[in-house]
Amino acid sequence: MYPLLAIETSCDETAAAVLGPGATVLSNVVRSQIPEHRLYGGVVPEVASRRHVDWLGPVVDEALEQAGIGRDDLGSVAATRGPGLVGCLLVGLSYAQGTARALGIPVMGVNHMEGHLLAPFVGDPDPPFPFLALVVSGGHTLLIHARGLGEYELLGETRDDAAGEAFDKGARLLGLPYPGGVEIDKLSQTGRADAVALPRPMSRKPGYDFSFSGLKTATRQHVEKAGALEGEALSDMCASLQEAIVDSLLLKTRKAARTLGIRRVVVTGGVAANSRLRSAFAAAAAKEGWELHRPGRGLCTDNAAMIGYAAALHLATGEVPPEADVAPGLRLASRA
Ligand code: KG4
Ligand code: ZN
Repeated sequence: MYPLLAIETSCDETAAAVLGPGATVLSNVVRSQIPEHRLYGGVVPEVASRRHVDWLGPVVDEALEQAGIGRDDLGSVAATRGPGLVGCLLVGLSYAQGTARALGIPVMGVNHMEGHLLAPFVGDPDPPFPFLALVVSGGHTLLIHARGLGEYELLGETRDDAAGEAFDKGARLLGLPYPGGVEIDKLSQTGRADAVALPRPMSRKPGYDFSFSGLKTATRQHVEKAGALEGEALSDMCASLQEAIVDSLLLKTRKAARTLGIRRVVVTGGVAANSRLRSAFAAAAAKEGWELHRPGRGLCTDNAAMIGYAAALHLATGEVPPEADVAPGLRLASRA
């Protein structure tokens, strides 16, 4: 199956990676469309699809070159099949299908969230199951009990906005550019996390679900009352919003870890790049005795190495590659 070419085009990053024997990453190229979408305050699906068409060929060429191989050397191809923007996904899937057909090699569709879930272990041919995983991205907030490869039990998820969405929508209300998570992270460094009292939605409710839309409303109300924020007031609001999001995520993760008696905890996805989330989970890990796993920052946000890694683990089990369609299911067992 190696060398394996992996492609990720589910949203606004055009990415390709090559993996070699033992699931080692030989190259990992990411070309971000963020500067372009920033002009519109968010991702414009049609623009994103067209950029993937323009960029995917050169990005794959670069990944092959960095890995020191030619296209004819490839043993298999993998591409994200969902969830994501359908027009964007189809670009990567079509490219993968075409490449595989031309070379007569297997092609595999990979679930984007499984890529995020396994990202902390990229390069390890034998990831340490079982673990509890908080997967936090721009579109998803999932708390998963991962018992083994493909054995994922969904414990909780967001009832409305995703954690990344809470950052991005909050930032927009505060007049900050897209993607807001990074901006809020930066401005929070000088803000006071207890400056603005914000709710911790769902924190007292049973179960492990999250809710973030109330924070958006609270932010809007604060801005309406205080007017356009700048300087210290803006940093304070950012730090308070960030703290509320991180706190909500940590509360439910800690509750699940304690209830289920799990000590190996994974935090992954774009929002796992957040500095406060990283420090809060590190502190909780020390206190609770967790073995904490997080991807390096480059593997938190969208990339193709995590997609190739998930594909490699499945292919190594001798699994027949599923049709590379755009069905977004992660084959999660129903909630406990
Ligand atoms: O995983 P990802 O790259 O794409 C999706 O699959 O959605 O996650 C993107 C999300 C965005 O909402 C972005 O604002 C958030 O991750 N993000 C952050 C940070 N870096 C990226 N949120 C908070 N702090 C950060 N440093
Ligand atoms: Zn993602």
